[in-house]
Amino acid sequence: MTTLPDYHKATTKREILTRRFFLFLTSLTFIYPLLCFLRYKAPKKPKTVKLQIEIKLGGYHIEPDFVLFENNRQPWAVSRKCTHLGCTIQFREQKRIFECPCHESRFSDQGVVLNGPAKRNLPKYRVEKLEEQKTYLVTM
Ligand code: FES
Repeated sequence: MTTLPDYHKATTKREILTRRFFLFLTSLTFIYPLLCFLRYKAPKKPKTVKLQIEIKLGGYHIEPDFVLFENNRQPWAVSRKCTHLGCTIQFREQKRIFECPCHESRFSDQGVVLNGPAKRNLPKYRVEKLEEQKTYLVTM
């Protein structure tokens, strides 16, 4: 039986390491799309919140997830989740604006960005008013 010289063993180890490296790269090629697929979240089903409250004209009502406004045309609801990094924003009644306590983004009462760092407007939710029952249905 013949033994391999030392320089030949070194070449073999290099080949093995190279093969393992390319095997690792190849498996990443398949694993990465799979991980992207697993992180995929199905869109949420719309949730309807029923509020039996009375809001005077020009008034508002604060809920944990949104603020409901009422004017002489129609009611509207604006999300309280900041579009920058998701902090819960506060409604400042005197200025009628939303302020984020985390990085001080500001939004109008319609949810429009007044100043950043947030770049996207706050989501608005569909509101249905049932006059006879003094009820608001907010679909989020
Ligand atoms: S999370 Fe609201 S401004 Fe950053």
